[in-house]
Amino acid sequence: MSSRKLFVGGNWKMNGDKESLGELIMTLNTASLNDETEVVCGAPSIYLDYVRSKLDQRIGVAAQNCYKVPKGAFTGEISPAMIKDCGIEWVILGHSERRHVFGESDELIGQKVAHCLESDLGVIACVGETLEEREAGTTEDVVFEQTKVIADNVKDWTRVVLAYEPVWAIGTGKTATPDQAQEVHEKLRGWLRANLSDAVADSVRIIYGGESAVFGNCKELAAQPDVDGFLVGGASLKPEFVDIINASS
Ligand code: 13P
Repeated sequence: MSSRKLFVGGNWKMNGDKESLGELIMTLNTASLNDETEVVCGAPSIYLDYVRSKLDQRIGVAAQNCYKVPKGAFTGEISPAMIKDCGIEWVILGHSERRHVFGESDELIGQKVAHCLESDLGVIACVGETLEEREAGTTEDVVFEQTKVIADNVKDWTRVVLAYEPVWAIGTGKTATPDQAQEVHEKLRGWLRANLSDAVADSVRIIYGGESAVFGNCKELAAQPDVDGFLVGGASLKPEFVDIINASS
């Protein structure tokens, strides 16, 4: 059994409104949650303040993105300083939708990681390969390169959770099998061991994100030695998110 505390993130993406998120918050606040599991909900930026004010303090809140400097003429962006000012503890960075829909580069993601950590926010840093990359046999190269750029910008790994999210399993109806997830998680942990240290490799949580159908096999996934939790999309907006949180109890 690893000593790493299980981490379950909900990534609400650009979904919900005050009414539906208010109901979801009520469900989470009144649910019996395994306290061996750290839970964080990623809310749309306009609702961060609202969500933090309503959600029970035993559940963390994450922004889904931010910019790389504290303030300035960057129309439409939010800074880590603003996120902190709203009492938020985490930021999701490098999500595949940021990389592929909004064209964020590894370099920009690295700069954001550095600035968020300097600003005393925790970072859920995402990596993952596309279907073409997997089929071309380059999964390892892709996730190692993405991880390297993140690692080059991290001084304190205690504030970082690494999320492996195969792009082909996000919102597509496809789920990585527990073996497929474990294989990449093990390689990522091996990369941390070879390039950083045993202490980092042994302590950093590597969580799996993919099709919300993860609910069907989350117990089996959570039982894999290198899978330390989940980053859940669609299913995190539903009451069954509670069952995913409690999957390993
Ligand atoms: P789905 O669970 O909706 O496939 O999304 C996964 C994801 O992108 C989590 O960040």
